[in-house]
Amino acid sequence: MDLQEIKQSVFKEIGEAKEIKTLEKVRIKYLGRKGFLTNILKSLKGLPLEKRREIGPIANELKREIENALKDKKEFLITNASFRPLDLSLPGKKINLGHLHPFTALERQINEIFARMGFEIIESDEIETEYYNFDALNIPADHPARDMWDTFWLKEKSLNKQKYLLRTHTSPVQVHYMEKHEPPFRIVSPGKVYRYEAIDASHDIQFHQLECLVVDENINFSNFKFIVLSFFQQLFSKEIKIQFVPSYFPFVEPGVQINISCPKCKGKGCALCKNSGWLEIAGAGMVHPKVFEYVGYNPKQWQGFAFGLGLERIAMIKYNIPDIRLFNSGDLRFIKQF
Ligand code: FA5
Repeated sequence: MDLQEIKQSVFKEIGEAKEIKTLEKVRIKYLGRKGFLTNILKSLKGLPLEKRREIGPIANELKREIENALKDKKEFLITNASFRPLDLSLPGKKINLGHLHPFTALERQINEIFARMGFEIIESDEIETEYYNFDALNIPADHPARDMWDTFWLKEKSLNKQKYLLRTHTSPVQVHYMEKHEPPFRIVSPGKVYRYEAIDASHDIQFHQLECLVVDENINFSNFKFIVLSFFQQLFSKEIKIQFVPSYFPFVEPGVQINISCPKCKGKGCALCKNSGWLEIAGAGMVHPKVFEYVGYNPKQWQGFAFGLGLERIAMIKYNIPDIRLFNSGDLRFIKQF
């Protein structure tokens, strides 16, 4: 290739290059160690002086022009690299929208119902002392009722000479609240509880309860029944019926188990309620005078009622979830249904 031919082709190739690596190929082709222009420049040495004087400056000038053209084109390609023509016909990107976990949504709905009925929502701790989880609730160390709640004890037992544990129920919040407040009041406190027991479709070792406590003068069982019924009717439907079955908890007297009529079969009997028409949903009762004594209230002046709802059980009924283990499975197919 002579200088004329080089001139004709090199600028055309630089102009057509769309990528930096193509430009580099052009550079090597003409200016590389064995490039066309390099060969001409090398061959100048063997030419007569006359010829050298004629061709030398032209070849060197061409080299500079090619170098400048390569540099300008490279800069152009770099600055315009991010430029992509807008293609309006491309389908849009699908954005995955998050939503509340069914359990969180339920907890919020329950809190709202209680807030509308004038209840204060209280936060409470998951690590408790033996005193608050048991003793102050009228369950001393040798009491057989402690077997109702298999306990996860914590290793550092000697802090403040107290034994620490993961609370087995939300009832300790009753004692904490009453120690710091004077009646009358109505509170609810949702939170996690822990039990060292076998896991199955309706039992987990970590689950949620909601504690409710109302203390006032002249509180009786009818007030209690009204609040419970009104809560469940707001949560499920007006048709829900409730049933109080005698039960035993050392911190209430009398103690009851609350059953609700099965919202699925409306009490007729189905797999959910094991054909009984009823679902066991909470432990409850009128606050035991001994608990009032522990917190320094006069049991002759104040009365109260309390109940502890199992929140997973309610969510299972409400959303027709067959197995409690699904809540913490992390399975997106489960979560996405809600
Ligand atoms: C109690 O925990 C009492 N603290 C309730 C109470 C409060 C009684 C105030 C009197 C006054 P119980 O152990 O029955 O009671 O538990 C209450 C509810 O928690 C049960 O009705 C059930 O819905 C739920 N529950 C109990 N164990 C489990 C478990 N392993 N997994 C999921 N839910 C459970």
